[in-house]
Amino acid sequence: MSEVVSYELKGNIGVISVNNPPVNALAQVVREGILNSIQAAQEDASKAIVLRCEGRTFIAGADITEFGKPPKDPGLPIVLDAIENSSKPVIAAIHGTALGGGFEVSLACHYRCAVASAKVGLPEVKLGLLPGAGGTQRVPRIAGVKAALDMITSGNPIAACKAHTMGLVDEIIEADDLEAGAIEYAKGLVESGAPLKRIRDITIDPATIEADFFANARKQLARRARGQIAQDKIVSCIEAAVELPMDEGLQRERELFRELITSPESAAMRHIFFAERRAAKIKDLSKDTPVRDIAKVAIIGGGTMGGGIAMCFANVGIPVVMLEINDEALQRGKDIIRKNYNITLQKGKMSEDQLEQRIGLISGTTDYTDISDVDLVIEAVFENLELKKEIFAKLDTVCKAGAILATNTSYQDVDAIAEATARPQDVVGMHFFSPANVMKLLEVVRGEKTADDVLATVMKIGKKIGKVCALSRVCYGFIGNRMLGGYGREAQMLLMDGCTPVQVDSALEGFGMAMGPLAMSDLAGLDVGYKARQGRTDLPDDPKLYRMGTLLVEMGRHGQKTGSGFYKYDPQTRRRESDPEVEALIKEEAAKLGIEQLEISNEEILQRCFYPLINEGALILEEGIAQRPSDIDVVYVFGYAFPVAKGGPMHYADQVGLKNVYDKICELRDRYGEDYWKPAPLLKQLAEAGSTFAEWDKNRSAG
Ligand code: CAA
Repeated sequence: MSEVVSYELKGNIGVISVNNPPVNALAQVVREGILNSIQAAQEDASKAIVLRCEGRTFIAGADITEFGKPPKDPGLPIVLDAIENSSKPVIAAIHGTALGGGFEVSLACHYRCAVASAKVGLPEVKLGLLPGAGGTQRVPRIAGVKAALDMITSGNPIAACKAHTMGLVDEIIEADDLEAGAIEYAKGLVESGAPLKRIRDITIDPATIEADFFANARKQLARRARGQIAQDKIVSCIEAAVELPMDEGLQRERELFRELITSPESAAMRHIFFAERRAAKIKDLSKDTPVRDIAKVAIIGGGTMGGGIAMCFANVGIPVVMLEINDEALQRGKDIIRKNYNITLQKGKMSEDQLEQRIGLISGTTDYTDISDVDLVIEAVFENLELKKEIFAKLDTVCKAGAILATNTSYQDVDAIAEATARPQDVVGMHFFSPANVMKLLEVVRGEKTADDVLATVMKIGKKIGKVCALSRVCYGFIGNRMLGGYGREAQMLLMDGCTPVQVDSALEGFGMAMGPLAMSDLAGLDVGYKARQGRTDLPDDPKLYRMGTLLVEMGRHGQKTGSGFYKYDPQTRRRESDPEVEALIKEEAAKLGIEQLEISNEEILQRCFYPLINEGALILEEGIAQRPSDIDVVYVFGYAFPVAKGGPMHYADQVGLKNVYDKICELRDRYGEDYWKPAPLLKQLAEAGSTFAEWDKNRSAG
């Protein structure tokens, strides 16, 4: 028997214990160990078998690191058959998270018991997959078709108590010791002569499913999960659960699972799964770097950003003081927070009590001395370096020793801000993305002098408030906004060269971006970019550059907030419509500048918008601004809605082939000049070597 799985007879109950840290993933040794244990239990004096796990969780799924490698016996279906066909009842005892293949193991058991804090789920869709070990066949049989569809297409875990009401879990164990509780439960089943309940024996009556149920589900999912191919296949599997006998349904599931596992979408999503976890690790910081205690937080500025950040902390029970310049501003900030929480309440995602509890955690002040006791301050005032320096000088005088002083700046120099204090080691960037209570990304900006324990603390607190953290060094715009420059520029350049706004945005939305760049500029406000350009001396003196953005602002078309920008907006619905006036203006301006308007393919639109991102990403890597290419992918997927099924810009570049990217950039350089198209040396080097960013990173980490 393998070391990671042990089997022991405790009285008349056989207990299989899995011990494969960190998350008891179903690696080959685990599958083999469970299979051997089930077989051993058939021969001994046990009357029932409990399957449990050591450590923090029940089996959290297949071992994702095994995907893409040659399969090793025994396959999971063989293990599940052995469990299901056991002559003695097998009872899964669940704690932590029973996910994916782990939950499927439990579904093959005859009974499932769980502690109340446990969660169960089938998150495969988040990896571009479907549950490949019977999940799509067993869940609809036991919990109903609709519940199965929701659970498997969302991938979201379900709390044990809800799973109990849905029939997915048979018993909630109240005892502190799950193993003892599960053994008692098993004994009870034996004593009452409980049958060997096999979910496979349940049949679903097709007459209970509305005729257009699956067609409607497909339509909805196509809208919700653009560019992801797993959703449609999940619907097919659940359809098979209704229409086919169990074994045929399992076979269909396996076929579709195999198609997905070799798909580029799943490879990209698995890349992001590991990238997200890697990004949380700072290369030169040891695992045991101490962290500071964060029990109370202050936010300077109660605007949209400050309010959103305050909510992030209140949501996890950390008290927050919001500091504003006067009572009116403070009240405005508090009103926005209440409004936002009310939306969550109306959606049924929060109770009145929870709302009041969270709001109760957010207090306000206009007096700096009131924040002298906080452990972390996050400054979130508007982007003005001098103002930020002034605030940090003040924080330096009022904050207690050891308090972390963070700035939420999107592009200002964190080192210059740190120098305004006598404690630059305590200063760090915490760049949230708007709306801060919703967007997952937190760019953590490491200043020249930021102390190690400050970084470790910020990464930890970031995770606690539900953010995905990625580290950036200091540069203008850090990783995300610096890369965005060329993307926005080209979206506008394409207009002068012959595209309509609809064409540009549709191409990018077709690729999977949540919103095209021009529609996004309209949403953010065209005046924001306009103002930011005023102060810049580094831009080429080119009348074509940002011409449309500039003209539209000067015409009073500032985007959605004024009802028009690149598009016009329906005042009621805010739906965007193409505007013939803008299209005519584009043509007129191009003619004035003598630019020939050409037919431009969708492929070229994607190349012109994304290749500057990738090129800048390569520069960012060379300069050491980002730790790894995969960190850049994390920034774009979680901060800029780059489609997860494409794996982020650097992974996408590797898929397209760096030689292709490099050659196209050279072609565009020859056409439009070096001001805009200058291949990064790292891109050139890797393209010429036939390498990838991922390989470069791997070699560098090994070296
Ligand atoms: N396979 C391999 N490694 C895994 C893993 C898995 N299924 N799940 C987690 N890990 C690793 C992580 O990469 C991480 O490794 P490092 O410490 O080296 O970074 C470590 O386990 C801890 O993971 P987290 O940092 O995510 O820990 P957490 O406590 O925050 O979360 C968790 C735990 C909820 C289980 C989370 O890790 C998770 O959601 N895991 C993925 C679960 C999943 O998707 N399962 C389905 C797999 S596909 C499948 O099962 C197909 C099938 O049908 C057979």
